[in-house]
Amino acid sequence: MSATVLFAAPAKDWEDYREVLPATLAGVGVAAEVVTEADPAEVDYIIFAPSSALKDFKPFTRVKAVLNLWAGVEMVVGNPTLRVPLARMVDPGLTEGMVEWCVGHVMRHHLDLDRDICRTDTVWAPHVPPLARDRRVTVLGTGELGRTLAQALAELRFAVAGWSRRSKEIDGVICLSGEAGLKKALARAEILVLLLPLTAETENLLDARRLAQMPVGAVVINPGRGPLIDDAALLAALDSGHIGHATLDVFRTEPLPPDHPYWAHPRVTVTPHIAAGTRATSAARVIAENIRRGEAGEPFLHLVDRAAGY
Ligand SMILES: NC(=O)c1ccc[n+]([C@@H]2O[C@H](COP(=O)([O-])OP(=O)(O)OC[C@H]3O[C@@H](n4cnc5c(N)ncnc54)[C@H](OP(=O)(O)O)[C@@H]3O)[C@@H](O)[C@H]2O)c1
Repeated sequence: MSATVLFAAPAKDWEDYREVLPATLAGVGVAAEVVTEADPAEVDYIIFAPSSALKDFKPFTRVKAVLNLWAGVEMVVGNPTLRVPLARMVDPGLTEGMVEWCVGHVMRHHLDLDRDICRTDTVWAPHVPPLARDRRVTVLGTGELGRTLAQALAELRFAVAGWSRRSKEIDGVICLSGEAGLKKALARAEILVLLLPLTAETENLLDARRLAQMPVGAVVINPGRGPLIDDAALLAALDSGHIGHATLDVFRTEPLPPDHPYWAHPRVTVTPHIAAGTRATSAARVIAENIRRGEAGEPFLHLVDRAAGY
């Protein structure tokens, strides 16, 4: 018997997956038909992008799992019609991409690269650049992405702290948790990277009170989700100089509206939600493995904790 796999994602995603996904499923020995339209009552698995038109999972009476194409699940996790396991994207390609993007932006601020690039009209002003060992970086969220980033930064010899919901141990990283841990994490953060999921508990986490706990001139880098930050509070902190710079990849409204003050702010760098994309080749392997597991009656990988919201 062949499994019916519904690909519920925008058409541009289908272009990326239409060949690689069936081939990868066949490669792990799964007999499956991948389709973009089907009778809901005959669908076994749904590969899902939260931006797709599918909002009601009730008609999918025999579906075994919904496999999210994105790492973030805030747009689907609370859907009351979703009664089957929800897996999210944990993909080595996505993780590598995120680490590279974050290390690049941490390095830009650590070394003050913008200042040092010589242009025709600038002064020749050599100086000794700082060393990573003397730079305190904090990563909020030490899950799949944050943990790998914290380790990569520690390997570069940055003085790294990570903050998470549950306490944990990561080699070379000061691990903090809880409200008291957050205060310590922020107080030391010359560079702060947000890699938290968006949940009821993390929305507006970086508000005026917590921004004020950070060192003067600190840098905020947000590839997590826009609503983790209280935008008005960040803009006020940037205006006052308390926060030296914000590099923002994600926003409350995307695309960032043309009249948003972030665009023109001299202390803000805007990137268009490109920190880490899901790459079809490696993501197809993750999806195929989960479908293989479902067909073999084995537990799914990367299941979302619906109560925690991530
Ligand atoms: N910009 C982009 O292109 C892009 C791409 C991919 C992902 N993302 C974003 O990155 C986020 C993180 O992805 P991931 O794969 O690393 O997620 P993950 O593995 O689920 O890790 C989430 C981390 O956040 C921590 N956390 C969650 N709620 C918390 C709370 N209330 N207080 C303290 N810590 C909390 C978790 O703590 P525990 O370890 O204790 O559970 C965990 O360490 C995604 O949700 C998504 O929003 C962005």
